[in-house]
Amino acid sequence: MAIFSDNEDIQKPLIKKPEKSENLESKEIDFDKSFENNIRPKTLDDYVGQSALKSTLKISIEAAKKRNKPLDHLLLYGPPGLGKTTLASVTANELDTKIKITSAPALERPRDIIGILMSLKNGEILFIDEIHRLNKVAEEILYPAMEDFFLDMTTGKAQTVKTLRVPLPKFTLIGATTKAGSLSGPLRDRFGIIHRLQFYTKEELSLVVKRTAKILEIPITDEGAYAIASRSRGTPRIANRLVKRVGDYAIVKSNGEITEDIAKEALDSLHIDSYGLDTTDRALMTLIIEKYDGGPVGIETLAAALGEDVKTIEDVYEPYLLQEGFIQRTPRGRKVSPEAFRHLGYKMNNQQQSLF
Ligand SMILES: Nc1ncnc2c1ncn2[C@@H]1O[C@H](COP(=O)(O)OP(=O)(O)OP(=O)(O)O)[C@@H](O)[C@H]1O
Ligand SMILES: [Mg+2]
Repeated sequence: MAIFSDNEDIQKPLIKKPEKSENLESKEIDFDKSFENNIRPKTLDDYVGQSALKSTLKISIEAAKKRNKPLDHLLLYGPPGLGKTTLASVTANELDTKIKITSAPALERPRDIIGILMSLKNGEILFIDEIHRLNKVAEEILYPAMEDFFLDMTTGKAQTVKTLRVPLPKFTLIGATTKAGSLSGPLRDRFGIIHRLQFYTKEELSLVVKRTAKILEIPITDEGAYAIASRSRGTPRIANRLVKRVGDYAIVKSNGEITEDIAKEALDSLHIDSYGLDTTDRALMTLIIEKYDGGPVGIETLAAALGEDVKTIEDVYEPYLLQEGFIQRTPRGRKVSPEAFRHLGYKMNNQQQSLF
C-alpha cells in the first residue's frame, strides 16, 4: 500500500484526501436540503429509535400541554446526522407551536439574540444549533431569558446607567451541539432536559431506510434495506443518502429495485465497507498503523497528515470509530485496536500485541 510519502513534513497531507463525493458525512458536501426536509419525520411516532429520549419528551410535552406552560428548555447533543434538528421540529409540531431556527454563529451581536428573543411568542420554540459556539455576551443575555423570561437591558451612559427588566414571552429554548463538553457550565445548568442522542441500531436504521425509500418511491426488499442500514455508521443522515445513491445504482444497473445484492454491489462501488467505514475512516486508521505503529499519536498530527481539520476528525469520524472499538483515546493520543488491524488486513507484530 504505497499511499504514504516519506516526507516527514506533517503540514502536507500524507494521504490523498478522498473525493468529496466519497466523504459521506462532510458538512461541505453539497447535499440537497430540500431532500432532507422532504424525508424528515414530522411526528414522534415517525421519529425512529432514541426511545429513552422519546419517552422523556412525550411526558414533558404532555405535561406542558396540560399545564399550559412552555416545555422545559432542552439540550440535545451527539454526533452529526443523528436527528437533533429533526427532533426539535418534531417537538414543535407535537406542541402545535412554531419554531425559529438559528445557529450560534448567526448570533454574534447582542442585538441578534435580543431581536430573535423579542420576536418570539408565548409557547414558541427557539432552536439554536451549534450552541457551544455562543459568545459570552450572547450567553449572558440568555441566562435571565431562560430562567425568568426577562431581558436585562441597560440604558444611558456612565453615571446615568439604568438597568431595565424587559419581559419576554414564555418560550422554550432547544439547543443542539456536537460538543456538549464545550458548553459553559452555567448555560448547561439552565436546561431542564439534557440528552445525548445515541447511534442507531441496524434494525432502527432499516426502518429509516424503508421509510425514505417509500417516500422516494424506490422499491426495496427487507434484505436490501438491512444491507444499507448495516453500512450507514449508525446514522440516519447517511442511511438516507445511501438510499438515494443505491436507488440510482439500482435503476441504472438493474430494474430499479434495491435488493440485497444490488445494495452490496452499489455500496462496494462507493468504497463503503462492511462496517460502513469510508475512505477517510480507513485512511485514518491505516495512517496510525503504518506511520505510528498503531499509536498512540496526537490528534493534531493525525489531522495534519490527513489534510483534515481536528474538529472534523473529532466530531465526524471519531465518534463512530470509538463506539465500534476501532480506535481508542488515551492521554497520549489515539491508538487503533486489534479489531482495526484485523479489519484492515494487517497483522500485529509482537511488540504491538504486547501493548493490548
Ligand atoms: N429518528 C429519526 N428517524 C427518522 N429519520 C431521522 C431520524 N433522525 C434523523 N433522521 C433523518 O436524518 C437526517 C439528519 O437529521 P438531522 O438534520 O436532524 O441531524 P442533526 O443531528 O441535526 O445533525 P447536525 O449535527 O449535522 O446538525 C434528517 O433529514 C432526517 O430525515
Ligand atoms: Mg442539525
